[in-house]
Amino acid sequence: MSALLELQGLNSFYGPVQVHFELSLEVRQGQIVCLLGGNASGKSTTMKSILGLQRPRSGSIRFDGADITGLPTPRIIRRGIGSVPEARRLFPAMTVRENLLMGAYARSDKPGIAADEARVLALFPRLAERLAQRAGTMSGGEQQMLAMARALMGRPKLICMDEPTMGLSPLFVDRVLELIQAINREGVTVFMVEQNASLALAIAHHGYVLQAGRIALQGAAGDLLQDHRIRDAYLGGAATG
Ligand SMILES: Nc1ncnc2c1ncn2[C@@H]1O[C@H](COP(=O)(O)OP(=O)(O)O)[C@@H](O)[C@H]1O
Ligand SMILES: [Mg+2]
Repeated sequence: MSALLELQGLNSFYGPVQVHFELSLEVRQGQIVCLLGGNASGKSTTMKSILGLQRPRSGSIRFDGADITGLPTPRIIRRGIGSVPEARRLFPAMTVRENLLMGAYARSDKPGIAADEARVLALFPRLAERLAQRAGTMSGGEQQMLAMARALMGRPKLICMDEPTMGLSPLFVDRVLELIQAINREGVTVFMVEQNASLALAIAHHGYVLQAGRIALQGAAGDLLQDHRIRDAYLGGAATG
């Protein structure tokens, strides 16, 4: 297995404030990789860097064999990276179907788009029932599904998700995690940011822990779940059994 995405020695700043310190990580083809870490540790900035929304001062980002550091976001997306941003960022006044088709804006192959719409709706039957509904009137969980479905419409090789379970009811949290696994089984590599370490590690292959802009810990998801440092910091210590 080779790395589909590789971050090498990123140093990122907001003005004078450094947010990433020599940040390196890789996401292997076919895997679900999660980036864990507390508030303000630099997780969302990592996503923004991959998508070309925040340019690192130094370091490189390679995707699918090419250097994408500093490329404009639309070009990065066209290379095969789909994004499910923090807080979902749908077009609330547009219908479910219109939002879905926005995910295919960079494509011109109409038959392919129609086929993908059918494929995506089969994965998200809840959206199929609500195609004419305005996105802004749906529940948080449904909006999260729509954001995932929209990203899939770009036919990405890699999908990046920033806190996909944030603010969802427990039922929808489980559903969203199942869908992430289903997307991955269809061959899409997943890189997800989560604050909820136990949930993310339960579905991931590999995990990284970011602490104040540095990778503090990494490993196979099963090993990290057992690691006392993770348990103490994110899983409530021994109390979680
Ligand atoms: N646009 C911005 N301008 C200035 N500082 C920012 C900006 N975005 C994030 N930061 C700061 O960078 C640090 C990392 O933020 P972020 O990557 O959003 O962390 P996380 O997603 O892990 O909570 C935080 O201290 C945050 O306040
Ligand atoms: Mg964040």
